[in-house]
This record gives sequence, structure tokens and C-alpha cells, in this order.
Amino acid sequence: MLIKHYPLYLLINLLWTGATGHRELQRLIKPLKVEFHALNLNSTLHWQPGSDAAGDITYFVQYKVYGQNLWKNKEECWGIREVFCDLTHETSDIREPYYGRVKSVSAGVHSDWNTSSRFTPWRETKIGPPSLKVTPRNKSIQLKLRAPNSPYKRRRGSKIPMTNYYDLLYRVFLISNMLDEKQKILMYEGTDKVVKIEDLKSEVSYCIVVETYLPMLDRSSACSSKICTVP
Ligand SMILES: *[C@@H]1O[C@H](CO)[C@@H](O)[C@H](O)[C@H]1NC(C)=O
Ligand SMILES: *[C@@H]1O[C@H](CO)[C@@H](O)[C@H](O)[C@H]1NC(C)=O
Ligand SMILES: *[C@@H]1O[C@H](CO)[C@@H](O)[C@H](O)[C@H]1NC(C)=O
Repeated sequence: MLIKHYPLYLLINLLWTGATGHRELQRLIKPLKVEFHALNLNSTLHWQPGSDAAGDITYFVQYKVYGQNLWKNKEECWGIREVFCDLTHETSDIREPYYGRVKSVSAGVHSDWNTSSRFTPWRETKIGPPSLKVTPRNKSIQLKLRAPNSPYKRRRGSKIPMTNYYDLLYRVFLISNMLDEKQKILMYEGTDKVVKIEDLKSEVSYCIVVETYLPMLDRSSACSSKICTVP
């Protein structure tokens, strides 16, 4: 036997550095910043590669409802190279809290799992601005507003709008070209889908931006892109 010819301390040393090297790699490839990002209830798990994630790294994703013991594999995100995973359909019970977790494999070495914090889609999703159509009239502007859609579909296939899940308000801001860009004037806040802004000057160009506001969560969307009238 070959082993007999090695002093014991050398053997132990060999095994020890092998094991710590392995553990070191396990630690270095572990995914970081595992968190859900959600916009209009489209809920995606994101993470960052570990500090020493090399080229051949792949990721494995699991999820579960808070309080359950069993983690489920997300088949579409099993051995992927991307650093995100769409869990919209796995988190469709939007008032339930969920967890997601990710591990990585590189050169046959498995990292530990890294787990997101608790994620409740209904409470944590960002919301997008409404879509906006502007029709300039003589001294007024007519706006048509529509809430963003969720990713969930009705049986017939049409997307369910966010108004199905939230009491939301539209906010309409006016920016005239005589004003500073930052000086937005709130012209309307409410649920109407058609809004008219009147008593405008006909020789002035006006710009409109809109946002969605969720009173229950005191959260507003980013502003829509600006639409301007030509005088
Ligand atoms: C993931 O693992 C690293 C290292 O063990 C840790 O610093 C980090 O906070 C963990 N959690 C998340 C959510 O990334
Ligand atoms: C716009 O104003 C002009 C002149 O004031 C008027 O003749 C015209 O009928 C108005 N158009 C509309 C759509 O109200
Ligand atoms: C969620 O958003 C991503 C990025 O926009 C998109 O590719 C994906 O199809 C969306 N998921 C669903 C279920 O609509």
C-alpha cells in the first residue's frame, strides 16, 4: 500500500487543504444579493454571482410559500447561466409570502443555498405608470388613461389589469414650457379614465406626465414619458 510510505501528518495535511480548498470555493461561488424584483406583479428572483464565480457556473432555483417545509424546484431555472428567474406564476397567490433560493455549481463544486428575504407580491410589487393618450383640443386637452396590466391572464387569454388587485388612482401633471421641468402641477387625481384639462392658453405648448398611485400602500409609480402638445 502506497499510503504506508507517507508520514501520517503529511496525509492529514493533504486531506485538510483539499477540504478547505473545496470549502473555500463553495463559499466563493455562493450567489449574493438574492432578492425579488417585481413590477406590476411580474415577480422575478435576481442574484449576483459569488465573488469567485468562473465561466462555467450554473444556477439552481427553488421556491416555497412561507410556512411550508418543502422547497420546490423551478424546472425552467434548473442549471441556468442567467442571474435571474421568472417566478411570476409560482407567486400568483399574491397575498402569500414566498421565499426563493439559489445555489450555484462550478467545476463540480456545489455552493450552499442563499435565500431571499420574505416576499409578498401584493405588498412589494412596484407599479408602472398608466398608458396615456393625449388629444389636444382648442383650449383644452383630453386624456385617456389605462392602468397597467398584470402578467396574469383571464381564462379567455386577456391580461388582468392591475385595477383588479388594487384601488389605484391616476395622477395627472401639467408642465408648461414656461415653467421649470421640475415644476409639475398636479391637475387631477382620481379614478376617471377620461380626464379633460381646460382653460389652457392656445399659444402655449403643454406637456403631460401621469403616474399611478396606490393609496393603501402610499406608493406611486415612476412618471410616464412626457407627451407635449404643439401650440
Ligand atoms: C448570501 O450569502 C452571503 C455569503 O454567505 C451573505 O453575505 C448574504 O447576505 C446572503 N444573503 C443574500 C440574500 O444574498
Ligand atoms: C376652436 O376655436 C375656433 C376659434 O376660436 C372655433 O372656430 C372652432 O370651432 C373651435 N373648435 C372646436 C373643436 O371647438
Ligand atoms: C416578466 O417580465 C419579463 C421581463 O420583462 C418578461 O420577459 C416575462 O415574460 C414576464 N413574465 C410574465 C409571466 O409575463
